[in-house]
Amino acid sequence: MSDRIDPPMAMLAELTHRCPLACPYCSNPTELTGKERAFDRSLGGCVPAGRSAWRAAIAFVGGEPASRRDLVELVAAAREAGLYTNLITSGIGLTERRLKELDEAGLDHVQLSLQGVTAAMADRIGGYKGGFDRKMHVARVIADIGFPLTLNAVMHRANLDDLEATIRMAQHLGARRIEIACVQFQGWALINRAQLQPSRAQVDVAKAAVAKAVEELRGALVIDFVPPDYYSDFPKACMNGWGSTGLNVTPDGTVLPCHAAETIPHLSFEKVQDLPLSEIWYNSPAFNAYRGTDWLPELCQTCDRRDIDFGGCRCQAMAVLGDAAAPDPVCRKSDGRSVLDALLEQDVHEIAAPEYVYRR
Ligand code: FES
Repeated sequence: MSDRIDPPMAMLAELTHRCPLACPYCSNPTELTGKERAFDRSLGGCVPAGRSAWRAAIAFVGGEPASRRDLVELVAAAREAGLYTNLITSGIGLTERRLKELDEAGLDHVQLSLQGVTAAMADRIGGYKGGFDRKMHVARVIADIGFPLTLNAVMHRANLDDLEATIRMAQHLGARRIEIACVQFQGWALINRAQLQPSRAQVDVAKAAVAKAVEELRGALVIDFVPPDYYSDFPKACMNGWGSTGLNVTPDGTVLPCHAAETIPHLSFEKVQDLPLSEIWYNSPAFNAYRGTDWLPELCQTCDRRDIDFGGCRCQAMAVLGDAAAPDPVCRKSDGRSVLDALLEQDVHEIAAPEYVYRR
């Protein structure tokens, strides 16, 4: 099978699950791990010998990757291995001195998360008082050093109405790109679905605002928008297709086709400490379980979107339908759509939504 599989283009290296923030939509698993065995100072087995095994990039994520004291060394090791390096951070834990060290180590790009455009909103969502002010300070240092910056704004019911202000914030901070991603309901976000689900009216206004901003800011700011799944008619190609372009390595060394793959209970995953990464990528039963299109159910096999969305998100099919091999229930053509619609109906009629369950 390996001769039909391209090498991965990117790794998400989850250095740690430690994080000063407690966002209720955190993409880390609901069972956080304290074991940080995967990444030693040389990146261990996380960079296969021989660049031919890799084509592109490593993104350091968490938790908060700045919680790792050896972050600078890890970036240097990745650059040494010839990888493009990206740091995805809340900014908390980064000082001017550390950012300069990261620059000297060769860090190529920074993605800064934004929880809200005001301190009140950002600190409420992040569950961390004073976080917004520290983030703004870090953003200024990032601009002074000259790192290419992408702002990562996760949007949901509480902040979707601030979308235009969020785009202005990206311009103000000197970002070249903004990723406006409506919350995807897995992990912590699934626990908080009713609190986070936007209304259809909010989504319609947001889509129009994005379309207008894309036109107005063409050439000045790249705007990537991920609309909310539950209001879409067709699923997105999650991970560009399972096992097609990227992989995650968790802090304990588990190698996953996507960050939420461990929610699929019948799959088991190898660790970088036990097997070469290329062996896992090409031959792991978990990576091959939903790779390509041969496995797709009949509905998807005969659909003209088969090679566009590859059946959608496996973890969403698991979360909503309890069957990871079913078509993504976002799909209007699928039987599962009625289940998703019932959840949506329930969410938008939730009157007094309870408080967030924060990631702890
Ligand atoms: Fe796992 Fe979409 S999040 S396949």
